[in-house]
Amino acid sequence: MRKVRVELEQRSYDIFIGHNSLTGLAEHMKTLPVGRKGAIITNPALNRLYGESLSRSLSGAGYRITTIELPAGERYKTLKSVSRIYDALIAEKFERGSFIIALGGGVIGDIAGFAAATYLRGIPYIQVPTSLLAQVDSSVGGKTGVDHPLGKNLIGAFYQPLLVWIDVGVLKTLPRRELIAGMAEVIKYGVIADEQFFKFIEGHYKDILSLDKDTLTHTVARSCEIKAMIVSADEREKGLRAILNFGHTIGHAVETITGYRKYRHGEAVAMGMVFAAKLAFNMGLCEARVAADIERLCRRTGLKTKLPEVDLSVLTDILSRDKKVADGKVRFVLPVRIGEVKIVEDADNDVLQRTLQLCYTSDKSEK
Ligand SMILES: NC(=O)c1ccc[n+]([C@@H]2O[C@H](COP(=O)([O-])OP(=O)(O)OC[C@H]3O[C@@H](n4cnc5c(N)ncnc54)[C@H](O)[C@@H]3O)[C@@H](O)[C@H]2O)c1
Repeated sequence: MRKVRVELEQRSYDIFIGHNSLTGLAEHMKTLPVGRKGAIITNPALNRLYGESLSRSLSGAGYRITTIELPAGERYKTLKSVSRIYDALIAEKFERGSFIIALGGGVIGDIAGFAAATYLRGIPYIQVPTSLLAQVDSSVGGKTGVDHPLGKNLIGAFYQPLLVWIDVGVLKTLPRRELIAGMAEVIKYGVIADEQFFKFIEGHYKDILSLDKDTLTHTVARSCEIKAMIVSADEREKGLRAILNFGHTIGHAVETITGYRKYRHGEAVAMGMVFAAKLAFNMGLCEARVAADIERLCRRTGLKTKLPEVDLSVLTDILSRDKKVADGKVRFVLPVRIGEVKIVEDADNDVLQRTLQLCYTSDKSEK
């Protein structure tokens, strides 16, 4: 079992990473300052796969557990789902010391975390992430929230969990496409902070994708360490935390254009990372090798790297709308080498256009 600490003064917490360790949570719970009453928030499929055994083990350890099932999918990441959680918690008379366990991918984690942040002005919650993306990214750092009809993640709160309990063994049931999408965020950590980790992924991506226990545990633990380090230094994204958005400027634009339906988040981020690396090269910030290395690793793990066939002017328009939000400037996180990035707000429009053209789907085999 690996342990990573997120240092945030009185809001500090541990991340435990193990293999087939899910029901071990019941024993560990005894060390936490929570009451006996708790709710597992999950979706029906995950409840059958993992929720029922987790609930049994917690009941066996003396906890009174209510399970709240929400329908699966991003389209249910809404205030209505949060409201359903409030209804159940009020019906069960949950108090300040009662706790929530978020058992699921990023969607469940974000909704359950937001319900925990707001019910009785905040009750403790534990993240038990089950997708690779949630294990390496969304369960750590305390960003919680839901979507609004007018945009993604518009309603939310920073609210840190009491514990993150990761069982990499549950990834055996994760659909392969989701696993590959999660790899984009893993690769991201190598590029933004750790060249050695990037090389490790290059050497071991097949073992990761075949779910080799030790390789997977190390990969998730190192990703969590990097995220923990960044969040500890800048909890509320006043500066450094923005580097976690590497690949996300174009990634978000691609998701918006395609209505959040065509690509998984990680798939769009991979396209965004390759774009950012090519932009960095075109701006003279890094060597061509940097972009080539990122593109090759993404492709090897099964991620597409070319931008989809959308009108360039539409993409530019979405970027310029982003501009208004960010004080009139599009903000890019660009690599200067593998392991180091910088934030750039003055990308020249011509260079942007040229790079977009370069990343446009010209490789028909990618479609
Ligand atoms: N809070 C943050 O910091 C943060 C960061 C990144 C992304 N996010 C959010 O995360 C969400 C995406 O998360 P995601 O990619 O995990 O998607 P998701 O939660 O929709 O999960 C993907 C699918 O995989 C299924 N699944 C998850 N684990 C499984 C398992 N072990 N076995 C079988 N099926 C499993 C889920 O039920 C779902 O159908 C988005 O809403 C995004 O906004 C939040």
